[in-house]
Amino acid sequence: MTSLPHSITIKSIASEESRLFFKQWLKSPMQLGTFAPISLKLAHLTASQLEVTNKTTIVEIGAGTGRLTRALLARGVNLDKLAMIELDPKMSDFLRHSLQHLYTSKAQPKVIQGNAEILSELIPSAWVGKVDYVVSAIPLMYMDETLRERIIQAALDVLNPVTGSIYHVSYSPISPIKFMEGEILQKRAVSVWGNMPPGFVWRFTPKRYLHDLS
Ligand SMILES: C[S@@+](CC[C@H](N)C(=O)[O-])C[C@H]1O[C@@H](n2cnc3c(N)ncnc32)[C@H](O)[C@@H]1O
Repeated sequence: MTSLPHSITIKSIASEESRLFFKQWLKSPMQLGTFAPISLKLAHLTASQLEVTNKTTIVEIGAGTGRLTRALLARGVNLDKLAMIELDPKMSDFLRHSLQHLYTSKAQPKVIQGNAEILSELIPSAWVGKVDYVVSAIPLMYMDETLRERIIQAALDVLNPVTGSIYHVSYSPISPIKFMEGEILQKRAVSVWGNMPPGFVWRFTPKRYLHDLS
């Protein structure tokens, strides 16, 4: 397990997470997509897209070492209403331990090591169909279309069918699920061309929900 210094601060976490991120990227570059965590600017711009109350229920997929997670918490997301899914066991451990040190919560942080393809089996069963936002930083662009579709479908399956939406961070100005345009409304909500690499936040809303409302 990755060790964290005893007196933990955001600064010590940030340097340790960059080290761990790079190490895991060397082992699985396609799974991580980038060699470094999201920039603070892009993380906070992503979080600012969400309308948050202390009841807002969020599932973050591809939570990594937690840089985007901390931006969500700074935005006002209630830690008890946030489930964080991460495939890499070392990153999941790091995220769990750093959150335990940084935030006080009655419940344990819901850091779940697992594959977002089976999202409804990972999150609390009472949340299925009631999630307000799925926030994704999974590198969909590096996956084949079948896998992208499976992950997006798994996210749609846990969302509130009327109001839920997906926010996806990507390092491509082209939507990674352009081929799903028939079913999903795809809007580029944020573009940070000066990010390294240029970063984009996509909002995906299922058209089926829009039809249901009309
Ligand atoms: C680009 S990193 C983002 C990490 C962090 N959210 C950030 O922005 O700094 C993508 C993360 O998605 C995770 N990931 C990739 N495929 C996944 C899957 N099928 N299920 C869950 N996590 C996955 C990777 O292990 C990696 O930690």
